[in-house]
Amino acid sequence: MHRLRNKRILLGISGGIAAYKSAELVRALTGAGCDVRVVMTQGAKEFITPLTLQALSGNPVHHSLLDPEAEAGMGHIELAKWADFILVAPASANFIARLAAGMGDDLLTTLCLASIAPLAIAPAMNQAMWLDASTQANIKKIQSVKSIQIWGPDQGQQACGDVGPGRMIEPINLAQLLAQQFESKALSGKTVLITAGPTREAIDPVRYISNHSSGKMGYALATAAQEAGAQVVIISGPVQIPPPDRVQVISVESAQQMLEAVEAKLADTDIFIGAAAVADYRPANLATQKIKKNNDEMAIHLVKNPDIIALVAAKSDKPFTVGFAAETQDILSYARGKLEKKNLDMIIANDVSNKEIGFNSDDNAVIVIEKDQEKEYPQASKYQLAQQIISHITNKL
Ligand code: PMT
Repeated sequence: MHRLRNKRILLGISGGIAAYKSAELVRALTGAGCDVRVVMTQGAKEFITPLTLQALSGNPVHHSLLDPEAEAGMGHIELAKWADFILVAPASANFIARLAAGMGDDLLTTLCLASIAPLAIAPAMNQAMWLDASTQANIKKIQSVKSIQIWGPDQGQQACGDVGPGRMIEPINLAQLLAQQFESKALSGKTVLITAGPTREAIDPVRYISNHSSGKMGYALATAAQEAGAQVVIISGPVQIPPPDRVQVISVESAQQMLEAVEAKLADTDIFIGAAAVADYRPANLATQKIKKNNDEMAIHLVKNPDIIALVAAKSDKPFTVGFAAETQDILSYARGKLEKKNLDMIIANDVSNKEIGFNSDDNAVIVIEKDQEKEYPQASKYQLAQQIISHITNKL
């Protein structure tokens, strides 16, 4: 079920006695880490209340196509684009007929038309209705024309007393079928922890020592790792770029705070990537008041900051640890020195003397260095390089 973690599931519920089982389905999906949005037809609300599903999903329930308030929140087109997968459970005979006819006469059918997300339905109805020629023709049509998956129905005793096909598949089995839809990606089930951006080392309440890191390289790596199926956390220094989708960002300022945040998250980490430009030194004393310019000269006494990545790599159960080396000369030999000294599995060297790449630029060019080999990746956008780096790391695991 870990494949469901972070997935966006739009659960459609149409009118039928099996609608009460949808509550259990929502619980199973949220329990597996899905973000669930429920869309109900008018009929579904006769069987189960939106409030129940709102409480279980933790999200507002959508039921009206023409509700200005709901449209102002997450409009129906936005909702259609948001979904990774649409599951309609239960799908009544009436809903299936409207779907087969390509109708958009309520929110749920409109979403099914408007979304490019894969769609599955779990039929639930009286056995005679299921076996009826019209329902069977509708099922054939939606399977062939729209390649919609049909999950079920199960056979057995029905609520009306009949015995036969028409029972909705049990919620836990529906959740398992859903999990199977998300094929395993290279980093599925892995957790990646990334440091990004600069640190700020306070001198007094208004001044600090920092550098030009924008966070772009670290954030691009986070996006690429998330897209490769990983659960990703960024420990970020102060940056001006938006957080990547579905990535947890923990904001810090100083190297000391970055270290504490890394240590708090390290336990379940499979891959650690140090893309942050951590200040090597910090002022020995933090002035509590703004320092006045009374003298022509002033000196700030600096002390060494903890080396975050070296501390991570020194753990007995260390994750696969990847550093970055920002160099302006003798790039290969300095980077190799850091690989060895910090006990890293891999280091990525970038030439930060070139303004077109490195600090704060949209592009980079890197050399991936391991103990026994080197591979050069020529200039490309940080996102393209991040994809190549993540794929390189994945091949080593
Ligand atoms: O943020 P951008 O504008 O996109 O720029 C990207 C980048 C140039 C900052 C990035 O690609 C990069 O090179 N990051 C590492 C910068 C750096 O501080 O390199 P370093 O050679 O000083 O450190 C070597 C490694 O040790 C790095 O992984 C660094 O994160 C880590 N380190 C350094 C010092 C310290 N006290 N703790 C650390 O963890």
